[in-house]
Amino acid sequence: MQDKHMLMIPGPTPVPESVLLAMAKHPIGHRSGDFSQIIGEITENLKWLHQTQNDVLMLTASGTGAMEAGIINFLSAGDRVLVGNNGKFGERWGKIARAFGLEVEEITAEWGKALDPEAFKAKLEADTEKTIKAVIITHSETSTGVLNDLQTINTHVKAHGEALIMVDAVTSLGAVSVPVDEWGLDMVASGSQKGYMIPPGLGFVAVSPKAWKAYETATLPKFYLDLGTYKKATDKNSSPFTPPINLMFGLKVALEMMKAEGLEAMFTRHQRLTQATRAAARGLGLGLFAPDDAASHAVTAVMPSTVEAEAIRSTMRKQFDIALAGGQDHLKGKIFRIGHLGFVSERDVLTAIAALEATLERLGDQGAKSGAGMAAAAQVLGN
Ligand SMILES: Cc1ncc(COP(=O)(O)O)c(C=O)c1O
Repeated sequence: MQDKHMLMIPGPTPVPESVLLAMAKHPIGHRSGDFSQIIGEITENLKWLHQTQNDVLMLTASGTGAMEAGIINFLSAGDRVLVGNNGKFGERWGKIARAFGLEVEEITAEWGKALDPEAFKAKLEADTEKTIKAVIITHSETSTGVLNDLQTINTHVKAHGEALIMVDAVTSLGAVSVPVDEWGLDMVASGSQKGYMIPPGLGFVAVSPKAWKAYETATLPKFYLDLGTYKKATDKNSSPFTPPINLMFGLKVALEMMKAEGLEAMFTRHQRLTQATRAAARGLGLGLFAPDDAASHAVTAVMPSTVEAEAIRSTMRKQFDIALAGGQDHLKGKIFRIGHLGFVSERDVLTAIAALEATLERLGDQGAKSGAGMAAAAQVLGN
């Protein structure tokens, strides 16, 4: 049926109708007073979302562009960096850093497990010469549904004193608290098609005063992604290049919606969606790829027991028009991922679980007991 497609993937995420309508307009001039006002409002609200007084800059780029900007603006070739890698996106940090000639030391964990803060502590404490320039991690590892313990890792970075803490918050911002000022996060990268509830196309970078100090001596070449240019423009409620004007019409409305909901309510909603999804999976006899104490609030990775993950995704798509994400790399066919990030309500999760139950029934899953997923989810959401 037309227009019934339901996105339950960890990005792009569903877009509210009021945001879609806000974007369905002729663009206005990006040097006009009206647009300048919009940039000013958006920037204030981005700071609210990041819980910061630091600069939050907007780039016409996807999340990876924001990550790359974070590397090239504050570091130089040959710099020693510690990179956390326990999934596809941690791996990407390493790839970007190596592409720019940084000296990368990876701290790894098996996919599906959280990074061990003690491993960071050991490396940082051993670095008495203060040669580590940055610790770079993915907060919510979307490929596995693991939420890394950023807060604890960051306390070890702070004890080191010199290294910057750089964070991919692409699927944590908006789902869990990322208190940039309280924790002293130096660079936080994110992208529009996730918790922001708007389509892809914008990247965001929050920059601390300590990171700006590093910017002064960083020598990697940059032009389009030179964040100094963005800061100068943003300080004047402007943008250095032509921005995606209509996307920003949408962002303005989306941020207003988030403010109306409130940070705490937004985090609680994501927590409840996560708990309901995990309870339902357990109820259906399916495995959970991430442990309870390190579960991403954006995405739940599920391991089917007796039926194929790709068959589940295919039936969900064909029969119910619900998109689930598959496993990436070696996890392809082993897991499927249910996104519950951004504009997702309890009703959406119940719908997806009910469809999943019917799908398992149709595929003849031996382990699933009909109704058990809904019962488990109702118990979570009934409270
Ligand atoms: C944790 C994480 N980091 C980075 C990215 C990359 O973002 P993009 O595809 O917008 O470049 C994604 C996208 O799914 C992500 O989930």
